[in-house]
Amino acid sequence: MKIAAHRIARIALAFCAGPAMAIGLGAQNARPSVEPMKYVGPGSCAATACHGSVKPVAESRILQNEYSTWILKDKHARAYQALTGDVGERMARILKLGAKAEESPKCLACHALYTAPEQRGRPFEITEGVSCENCHGPAQAWLGQHTERESPEKHARSLALGMSDTRDVIHRTEKCLQCHLGTSQKFVDHEMIAAGHPDLFFELDSFSAVMPRHWKQPRESAPGKPAPGPDGGANWTAVRDWSAGQAVQLRAAMERLTWRANGDRYDKKQIWPEYAELSCFACHHSLSSAKDSWRQEHGYAGRRPGDPAWNGSRYVVFRVLARQVDPAAAQELDQRLLAVADEMSKLNPDRAAVASAATSAVPVAQRFAERLATVPYDSAIALRAMQGITQDADDRPRRRARRGASHDGARFSVHRLQQTSPTAECGRSAQRH
Ligand code: HEC
Ligand code: HEC
Ligand code: HEC
Ligand code: HEC
Repeated sequence: MKIAAHRIARIALAFCAGPAMAIGLGAQNARPSVEPMKYVGPGSCAATACHGSVKPVAESRILQNEYSTWILKDKHARAYQALTGDVGERMARILKLGAKAEESPKCLACHALYTAPEQRGRPFEITEGVSCENCHGPAQAWLGQHTERESPEKHARSLALGMSDTRDVIHRTEKCLQCHLGTSQKFVDHEMIAAGHPDLFFELDSFSAVMPRHWKQPRESAPGKPAPGPDGGANWTAVRDWSAGQAVQLRAAMERLTWRANGDRYDKKQIWPEYAELSCFACHHSLSSAKDSWRQEHGYAGRRPGDPAWNGSRYVVFRVLARQVDPAAAQELDQRLLAVADEMSKLNPDRAAVASAATSAVPVAQRFAERLATVPYDSAIALRAMQGITQDADDRPRRRARRGASHDGARFSVHRLQQTSPTAECGRSAQRH
């Protein structure tokens, strides 16, 4: 029964991937590094028997309705249209792009499957937005063979042919962050935020759920992976995605700060300090009378009064988890980040000192990512993390009430990291309220 269904699907797949199949098999023998990896567009995945089924296919690990989910519900399919709206066009005017936003590489780099003409294996429309290959990699070379029967060898072959390893939580997060945090080749800086772009913010687990997810959870059900626990393992997959995702993001944020400090943007503009790395509310707030000013009461630990602080808010929750997992490594991470905070919270942050502080935090964050991606999760570790996080949140108002009374070194450090920005969502509130 299962086999029959599989065979029918295989035949249909072979049919719908016809021409690509031939190319794919050819490329399998060719060395992928010699053959440029080419994109074929989302239409190549849309056939009903491939990924365009209306409903999830029963008894298949692959849902096969991915295209339908993407085109109907996923915001990525509308990413190009975001550029053609009022906000996009106004941004293009303010930024003097010299072209409409939807014609500008600066925007298309993240809002579409934007490739060099020679990287196109088939014609497709840029208006289709962020599509399959933005996340799964250029498909021409593996399109044919990826419809074969599922096996670890096939997956490895597909990866060699240019497929992105979205199964690996670290690679997956890196992929999302290319657009949701930015790289030196495509980024959202304060100039763009001031022109109307939302501040970028990302968290793997919740963003994957909102996306909406077009894959089965938990990933551990893949061949060769240990079977999930009695609860199906789904709960722990979410905890793992959340925690490993945070560590990867911290590493990527340190890398971003490094290239910004080094002035390594593709356009070679020397913008420093980059305001988007600082606490938004250091500059964006209304003035209050001295008696109402929590800032004055709070003081300006670690910086000259009035200098904007580094934005460490996105690290505040992760550090609680880090302490649960490995207290010694968490302390090392704290020290590295404190050095970043100290350098960045000066009026004219020294670029070389910032780059060096941020770079030295990268390997520590990466070690956490690798550990959190593979550590076996269970209810004990999840509960400890949750308790740590809620306790930390409960403590904060109390700590604020005790302001000035906390002079011991550890608390002082925590305080300085935590006071940098009240919320990671400030860009969004700036946009949406
Ligand atoms: C580094 C990648 C990146 C670049 C470059 C980029 N964007 Fe975006 N843009 C995003 C992401 C990611 C979002 C979604 C943010 C979110 O909701 O978390 C977004 C959201 C938007 C939105 C809001 C859409 C909505 O539905 O609310 C507009 C408008 C927009 N971008 C326009 C532009 C314009 C115009 C440019 C070029 C000047 C540009 N973007 C360049 C990544 C990028
Ligand atoms: C914004 C990124 C993104 C886009 C766009 C996207 N995917 Fe995915 N896709 C993912 C992620 C992340 C996973 C989960 C990987 C995992 O856990 O194995 C996934 C999983 C899948 C899987 C299951 C893979 C497996 O081995 O279990 C299929 C099939 C798939 N996607 C097909 C598509 C198709 C077809 C499209 C376009 C219509 C598409 N995806 C668009 C990110 C994306
Ligand atoms: C090629 C760039 C790109 C990649 C890669 C990418 N995204 Fe996005 N994403 C965008 C853009 C652009 C938007 C904004 C679309 C809009 O609002 O019109 C967006 C929007 C979203 C949204 C909607 C946010 C909101 O405010 O509603 C979610 C959720 C999301 N992405 C999750 C992910 C996840 C998870 C991954 C990785 C598996 C990922 N994205 C990979 C560019 C990308
Ligand atoms: C060092 C100070 C500083 C920091 C830090 C800073 N900004 Fe700005 N921002 C400014 C200035 C100055 C302007 C221009 C204001 C004007 O012309 O009135 C501005 C303009 C803006 C605007 C457009 C003006 C408006 O009211 O709509 C937005 C949105 C914005 N910033 C968001 C952010 C976000 C989000 C962050 C944090 C990621 C941030 N800013 C960090 C100084 C800062």
